[in-house]
Amino acid sequence: MSGSAVFHRDFGADYPLIVSAQGSYLYADDGTEYLDGSSGAVAANLGHGVTEIADAMREQALRVGFAHTLRFETAALHDAAARIQGLAPEGFTRVFFASGGSEANESAFKLARQYHLSRGESSRHLVVGMWDNYHGNTLGALAVGGDASRRQHYAPMLPRTLRLPSWRDSADAMAPVAALEKLVRSEGAENISALILEPLVGSQLGAFEPEHEALRKIAEICRTHGIVLIADEVMTGFGRCGTNFAVERSGIVPDLITFGKGVTGGYAPLSGVIVSEPIVQAVRDSGGVFHHGYTYSGHPVAVAAAAAALQFYAERDVLENVALRGAELRAGLEILAVRYPNAITEVRGAGLLLALELSPALTARGGANALNRAAMARGLVLYPGASTRADSRGDTTVVPHLLVAPPLTVTPAEIAEMLSRLDGALRAHTD
Ligand SMILES: Cc1ncc(COP(=O)(O)O)c(C=O)c1O
Repeated sequence: MSGSAVFHRDFGADYPLIVSAQGSYLYADDGTEYLDGSSGAVAANLGHGVTEIADAMREQALRVGFAHTLRFETAALHDAAARIQGLAPEGFTRVFFASGGSEANESAFKLARQYHLSRGESSRHLVVGMWDNYHGNTLGALAVGGDASRRQHYAPMLPRTLRLPSWRDSADAMAPVAALEKLVRSEGAENISALILEPLVGSQLGAFEPEHEALRKIAEICRTHGIVLIADEVMTGFGRCGTNFAVERSGIVPDLITFGKGVTGGYAPLSGVIVSEPIVQAVRDSGGVFHHGYTYSGHPVAVAAAAAALQFYAERDVLENVALRGAELRAGLEILAVRYPNAITEVRGAGLLLALELSPALTARGGANALNRAAMARGLVLYPGASTRADSRGDTTVVPHLLVAPPLTVTPAEIAEMLSRLDGALRAHTD
């Protein structure tokens, strides 16, 4: 919009003005219709225009619009926490709230540190992350994540963290496991506080799931050496991959689970940390105060949105829809992979967090961004990305990918329409 006061993310971009949204569709002021094939940033998990969530938010805003969680609590806070805890694996007993996924991960890093302090292990402070995992854009989360393009401008400002190689850098699926063992020896377990990973890597690698055995080995090393394991489920939580949380797929048991995005279906900014009982107890036993928090931790309208969204997930049996629609979408993407072998090199993911890995040759033609623009021109929004793969000689290749992650309430007709629009974009882009 010309003459705007908005500090846009990209001043060179054209942003369609969205005036309404319903189901899996967004509508612009010029009448263009967009099929939301990525649930925004994999957040609008219940589609648009869900009256039950909107009503709950309005009702809460009128009843209590704000109550500072440093001094007060609300019924909605308890309701949302109980619902989230009820979905978590056994042994997780409490939920700490924040607003965005980055804040949730920052909270988890601090909670891990406080846990060690409460046990007298004050030298534990380092956080281990993986190249090609993404944990957010705040400085701490950015420091431990591996998105080179987001890190490059701020590298001198980032605190020191330890890093495991990307799952994709080696043909050996166990390479990050060996790297962790080496790191524990070189840095000393007594200095390592936590390890964070995405159990199924979303935006950075394009719905890439590590070998379950490798995840289990990493979890075992953490357990042996007293390192707090944080599963970042900001993108994968609440049914996105076909289970409530993606850790259920490999069976690993983390100490902390971070969540965000889908917890409110994208209707309000809410995130948090689901905390296992030993960590809850340690904080309780050492004074009972978590030295951390945000103004909007547990905001009444945001938690009311979460409670209503989680009720909707359960009542509509969203997990069942993920299984059915996920299979249909995947089958359709496989057909496109056969039709466009020069563009699509792999279809992968789980549930409704799917991705097309694209040929590195497309990089010269603008990579996944250009393909996404071709899709948008046909009224389909996807989520483009790329990762850098190193070979044994250290040479790197940029591998583009496109996340395909519609709302978990997507219908068969919407899946068919998505595939048809994507087919059109691929045909035009790969001509
Ligand atoms: C796995 C994961 N963690 C953390 C974040 C950061 O969340 P936010 O952008 O809400 O801060 C994201 C965002 O895409 C994510 O995918």
